[in-house]
Amino acid sequence: MNKRLSNFTEWLIENNQDFAYIHSPSNVFYLSNFHCEPHERLLGLFVVPNQEPFLVCPGMEVSQARDAGWTYGIIGYSDSEQPFDFIEEALKARGVQSPERAAIEKATLSYERVEHLKERFGKLEFHAAETALNELRLIKDDSEVEVLREAAALADFGVETGVSVLRDGITEMEVLATIEFELKKKGIREMSFSTMVLFGENSGAPHGNPGQRKLKKGDLVLFDLGVVLNGYCSDITRTVAFGDINEKQKEIYETVLKAQTASLDISRPGTRLGDIDLAARNVISDAGYGEFFPHRIGHGIGIEVHEYPSMSEKNDNQLQEGMTYTIEPGIYLPEVGGVRIEDDVFVTEDGYETLTKYPKELQIIK
Ligand code: GLY
Ligand code: MN
Ligand code: MN
Repeated sequence: MNKRLSNFTEWLIENNQDFAYIHSPSNVFYLSNFHCEPHERLLGLFVVPNQEPFLVCPGMEVSQARDAGWTYGIIGYSDSEQPFDFIEEALKARGVQSPERAAIEKATLSYERVEHLKERFGKLEFHAAETALNELRLIKDDSEVEVLREAAALADFGVETGVSVLRDGITEMEVLATIEFELKKKGIREMSFSTMVLFGENSGAPHGNPGQRKLKKGDLVLFDLGVVLNGYCSDITRTVAFGDINEKQKEIYETVLKAQTASLDISRPGTRLGDIDLAARNVISDAGYGEFFPHRIGHGIGIEVHEYPSMSEKNDNQLQEGMTYTIEPGIYLPEVGGVRIEDDVFVTEDGYETLTKYPKELQIIK
C-alpha cells in the first residue's frame, strides 16, 4: 500500500472509522494517483481499515485507473447501473455489515449521496475526512515540489508570452488567447483557473473579467494565470506598465512590491501564518491603501490551485518545511487600476524558495 493510503488508513483506525468514502477528484488523485473528472457521475475511493481499498468509477475510465498504477479492486459501472448497489456489495464483502462511523468529505459530498449511504447502511455518523487529508497534503514531498517547480516555470512562460505581445490596440482576449495557445503548444491541456489579462481600469477589480478592452498607453496590465501539469497547479500574477504611467500608479506598484517582499522575508519554518498576511497588510495600510487590499495574502497550492491552508491574518498555525502557498498582495483603485504581485512559495529548511521566478521590478513596456 502506498504511504499516502497507509497514513490515511492509520487516521481512520485512530478515529474508529468503519470506512471512508473519498469522492473529490483531488483527494482520489492524492491517494491513488488516478486522475478522473467524472462530471456528475460517481467517483469513489473506499478505504476500509485492515481490508483492501477499492475504486468505483465510470466503466469507460477503468483502463485509465489501471494505467495510473492502481493495483487494487476497481468497480466500473455503466450509465444504466446504480453504483451504490456495487458499493454496498463491496463494503459488505469486506466485513462492513452495519457500520456506525464513516469518513466523508463533508464540505463537498452531495446530500443526495449521503442519503444513499444512509438508506443502505442505516444510522451512520459522519466524520470529516478533510481533517486528515488537508493535513497530509499540506507537506509536499520532493516529487511534488519538482512538478510544482515545472508548473511554475510554465506560468512564468505564460506571463513572458503575454508581455511580449503587448501593443497599442490589442485586446485583453487577444493577449489571453496567445498565452494559452503558446502553452497548449507546450503540451498544457488545462489552465489552473480562467486566465486573467486586465488592462487599465479593469485591473482595478481583483478578479475582473477579460474582454474586448483595447490596450492604450498609460495602462497597467495585470496577468493572473497558472497551469495544471501532471495534476499539480501553478498561479502567478504580474503587473506591468504599458507606456509611461503616472505617479499614483507607480506608488501603488512600489507599495505592493514592498508588501510582497515583507511577507517573503519572514517565510520560514515557525512563522505564524497570520503574520505572513499581516507583514504585507501593514505595509499597504501604512501607505494609506489598507481599504484597497480586500483579500487575504494567499492560499495553499498543490493538486488544487486553492487548497489548505488559508493564509489569512487570523490563522495561528505555523509555517512548516515542505509547505507551498501563494503570496499575492494587491491594491485595487477603481478607475485608476490595480496592481497584484503573486508568487508560489515553497518553505525550505531555513527559509523559502519562490517557484515562480518572473522578474518583479516595474517593467515599462514601450
Ligand atoms: N488566481 C486566483 C488567485 O490568485 O487566487
Ligand atoms: Mn492568481
Ligand atoms: Mn492565487
